[in-house]
Amino acid sequence: MTEPVLDVHLTPEDAAIALRAEARAGLTARSKWVSPKWFYDAVGSELFEEITRLPEYYPTRAEREILVARAAEIASLTDAHSLVELGSGSSEKTRLLLDALRAHGTLREFVPLDVSPSALTEAARAIIAAYPGLRVHGVVGDFTEHLGLLPGAPPRVVAFLGGTIGNLIPEERDKFFASVREVLNAGEWLLLGTDLVKDPDVLVRAYDDAQGVTAEFNRNVLRVINRELDADFDPSDFEHVALWNAEEEWIEMRLRALRPVKAHVAALSLDVDFAEGEELRTEVSAKFRRETVDRELTAAGFALHRWWTDPAGRFALTLARA
Ligand code: AVJ
Repeated sequence: MTEPVLDVHLTPEDAAIALRAEARAGLTARSKWVSPKWFYDAVGSELFEEITRLPEYYPTRAEREILVARAAEIASLTDAHSLVELGSGSSEKTRLLLDALRAHGTLREFVPLDVSPSALTEAARAIIAAYPGLRVHGVVGDFTEHLGLLPGAPPRVVAFLGGTIGNLIPEERDKFFASVREVLNAGEWLLLGTDLVKDPDVLVRAYDDAQGVTAEFNRNVLRVINRELDADFDPSDFEHVALWNAEEEWIEMRLRALRPVKAHVAALSLDVDFAEGEELRTEVSAKFRRETVDRELTAAGFALHRWWTDPAGRFALTLARA
């Protein structure tokens, strides 16, 4: 079988250095935080898959509905020769786009970008097996830093799906959109999935499900830190918190210490203390309005070309032109 070509912009050593620097900054800050990108080890990725099937977690299903309805239109509007996907990309959603581009007759190359070489190789192999003749050129990198020299035959569609853009705060989003615009030629495309502002109860339930899967997903970040940084957090010392920040219009996930906690992070030679009730912020998941998406994309040099939502208006897919 054909093996995927892989460009490595981020080695496991780079990733380890980044984790250490960020963990030190976050765990010594006055309001403690860790980055949500550390959720996705093998266990965390499995838990996230489980989240996408929960009755309360609507974004995955809503976005799929839009793609099912619009994939053919996306193919004919873009005439794309390459699909670039930020995030590992062997999912059903990726395939909806690949199928539509293939049916349209323009598809030549698939470029998945992910921080995890193993996730990337697995995704790339699955796509090669399912799409004989398709060139697959993977990039191991962090989408906030390694977009430079993006492969793929133009015109390309860069797909950033699932609402993951919501993990970035506004300043980070501006930087990210500008860097995507910079790697694209005029006339190429960004396809962006965004969860939308709605009833806070619906939002909070999506991040605090009845079965406790999201709580486990949240606490798993402590297991990742224990393993990667030789730390000794006990996840059962923390409870899951999901709240709606109405001012910022984002969901925040936190881990709240149920009792005073002392942990040692050996790789950082760092002792971390939590008072009872003290919280560690683990994720921001911003929710959007059309005006915000339009304003941010326009500021980065894109033109909003199409805006589609699911029939219930919960989630949006934006096609923007560079
Ligand atoms: C994968 C970042 C889109 O923010 O909804 C799911 C992650 N966190 N449940 C999201 C997540 C808690 C998810 N993204």
